Amino acid sequence: MERLVVEGGQSFSGSVTISGAKNSALALIAGTLLADGVTILGNVPQLLDVRVITDVLSSLGAQTELLPGGQLRVDARGVNHYEAPYDLVTKMRASFFVLGPILARTGRAKIPLPGGCAIGSRPVDLHLKGLRALGAQVYIEHGFVEAVAEKLYGANIYLDYPSVGATENIMMAATLADGITVIENCAQEPEVVDLADMLNAMGARVRGAGTETIVIEGVSRLHGCEHRVIPDRIEAGTFMMGAAITRGELRLNGVRLDHMQATVSKLQEMGVLIQADGPDGVIVKGHSELTPVDVRTMPYPGFPTDLQAPMMALLATVKGTSIITETVFENRFLHVDELLRMGANIKTEGNAAVIVGVDRLSGAPVQATDLRAGAALLIAALTADGQSSVGALHHIDRGYEDIVTKFADGGVNVSRLVACDPLLV
Ligand code: UD1
Repeated sequence: MERLVVEGGQSFSGSVTISGAKNSALALIAGTLLADGVTILGNVPQLLDVRVITDVLSSLGAQTELLPGGQLRVDARGVNHYEAPYDLVTKMRASFFVLGPILARTGRAKIPLPGGCAIGSRPVDLHLKGLRALGAQVYIEHGFVEAVAEKLYGANIYLDYPSVGATENIMMAATLADGITVIENCAQEPEVVDLADMLNAMGARVRGAGTETIVIEGVSRLHGCEHRVIPDRIEAGTFMMGAAITRGELRLNGVRLDHMQATVSKLQEMGVLIQADGPDGVIVKGHSELTPVDVRTMPYPGFPTDLQAPMMALLATVKGTSIITETVFENRFLHVDELLRMGANIKTEGNAAVIVGVDRLSGAPVQATDLRAGAALLIAALTADGQSSVGALHHIDRGYEDIVTKFADGGVNVSRLVACDPLLV
């Protein structure tokens, strides 16, 4: 019943610290299951999704404890269950990342098959193909995936698509396999590199993460380690687009610009000023005249699909015609109808959206249809005429840590209210 109420006509004008990357944290937390020891993760964002995967670990027999200062301690020595509970895994798809680690650690894993998803059908065939190649027997029965292997063996695996999750799942399983695994056409996302770095700190031998071929030499045991989660490039990109759409100015702290080249160069092409300021600071200025651009989402290092919705909100306010082509997910335009309710001029045709910039968006009650769509609507609301309210906040809470405080740090006010008006629910 809660909604974020946003008065339009506000501009970012402050300083925001970027949290640890949600997508990295989820894979790293799953990866801690591989260690016969204690792992301390730093810079862990306090998000709904992180709570869900932590609960999945606890259900498998790991001891988890949130320490002050965003640290998570996982003691995986007691991992003794091989079945992840249905109600947790179906809350969040990334819970499926525990499949590889549990299989490698206990010789057996049983995980509910993740269901459909608002943004596309999201199969897990590549995860399963990789685990089968490592020697696991994999069955799908009664809505569960069950994988069994007394021992995993190194193998050559070619991914038909550079899936982030499949790369991570297979890489984790292969760390404890007998022999050498080569994953070709793998995902090159910074989150994959972050996971490889943590696995290596645990005693794994992973080379090539960040390129299209990863080579893993299996070891017999992994130990605990300390590791710090990389900054969230999607959160940072959302704030950059927020500064641009409100024609404001923001300082972002804790940013890895080298993880954001496609995003930064697209925004610069539009006329947004982005300047490094110190080792991990960035100044973003959106006050100049912005020009329309065409954007195509691609696996890393291409433009991230997770920033497609915020980018569309921004382009909806830029005079001229822009085209966004979504190539990663089959149905990731659910935010279009909500932006239309705010007065945007957008037409979709298959996986392309043609956006004609309007002078002003108008405030409206809207619904976050997924996590990134929610962020897009929020930044659109800041620049719109009049009041907006954004509902279905559980989507936003999955991936943006304490968004009200962060917006306040950035100089804009949004209020989280329990909606009494039935029109706003
Ligand atoms: C991860 C990110 C998500 C991001 C996505 C793409 C996490 C927790 N989530 O999701 O935020 O939007 O990468 O950058 O890291 N596919 C298959 N078969 C498979 C696996 C994937 O066909 O076995 C397809 C998917 O349907 C999709 C495409 O590959 O069309 C990309 O998916 P993938 O890279 O696997 O995304 P996730 O790891 O689920």
